[in-house]
Amino acid sequence: DWNMPDYVEEAIGRIRSEVGSDEVILGLSGGVDSSVVAALLHRAIGTQLTCVFVDNGLLRLNEAEQVMKTFADNLGVKVIHVDASGEFMKHLTGVIDPEQKRKIIGREFVEVFQRESAKLPNAKWLAQGTIYPDVIESAGAKNNKAHAIKSHHNVGGLPETLHLKLLEPLRELFKDEVRELGIALGLPHDMVYRHPFPGPGLGVRILGEVKFEYAELLRRADAIFIEELRASGWYEKTSQAFAVFLPVKSVGVMGDGRTYDYVVALRAVQTQDFMTAHWAELPYTLLGKVSNRIINEVRGINRVVYDISGKPPATIEWE
Ligand code: XMP
Repeated sequence: DWNMPDYVEEAIGRIRSEVGSDEVILGLSGGVDSSVVAALLHRAIGTQLTCVFVDNGLLRLNEAEQVMKTFADNLGVKVIHVDASGEFMKHLTGVIDPEQKRKIIGREFVEVFQRESAKLPNAKWLAQGTIYPDVIESAGAKNNKAHAIKSHHNVGGLPETLHLKLLEPLRELFKDEVRELGIALGLPHDMVYRHPFPGPGLGVRILGEVKFEYAELLRRADAIFIEELRASGWYEKTSQAFAVFLPVKSVGVMGDGRTYDYVVALRAVQTQDFMTAHWAELPYTLLGKVSNRIINEVRGINRVVYDISGKPPATIEWE
């Protein structure tokens, strides 16, 4: 139980005395934790911090632009924006197995990050957005079956390969404290209260083989769903919500013609810990509006379904 402005000052002091005049690198993903680390380190050490933002081609609509706007333009943080989407797509060609896709995306990320950090030879520290639950989780990971089902930790081993010292300023904080800190540091509310997004991104929300065309359709469908959730007040009432691309074609009608297009599934869940989850009982009128908009606005999708599976036995993601 601490006072936030005091905590910010104390954290800044700690970071300054630990880092001194060294340079620090941070992988900025746009998620809550890395965003708060970026804002905090920027406040503490200014231009000694360089963020690397890797666009893997599997991000949500306008995500890269938003991150660059918030951090580089508004806050004046040094951010290197790497568009590696072509490279990620190339390595994912022909790959359908979910765990294989996770491995490839994780490996590519490390490779791109390594390449970028080699351009900053003076960096001594790698900052990470590790929070207290991550610390506990990795300590208990060996005995935790539920976490072994999917390989979630895609960037493990990065500090070792880079020969950098690890800086983890959020190590003692719970998620709600990280959010409070983000607000105290002036980050936008919508960024701080964002739903979690998996590291492999749309890579595990496009079932089977990942293709650029599929990612484009999914990005637009997903953005419509999220926009309508926010507009109706349901975004805050759900823990995670997103669209999933099904590489299956079904028949529809449009005007005088017949269509033969792809299917999108909507998923929205409520959960405390993401280990178990209930599907959200979204109002039919909201689902209807989202479905109409997606089918009318995203050419190439002619059918929308809603996922009513709980976890367990289903998982939150479809892969
Ligand atoms: P599941 O699908 O296992 O998801 O019920 C539980 C939570 O974990 C997230 N998730 C991931 N996060 N890398 C991540 O960083 C991954 O590979 C990954 N797979 C699932 C999922 O979004 C949900 O919040």
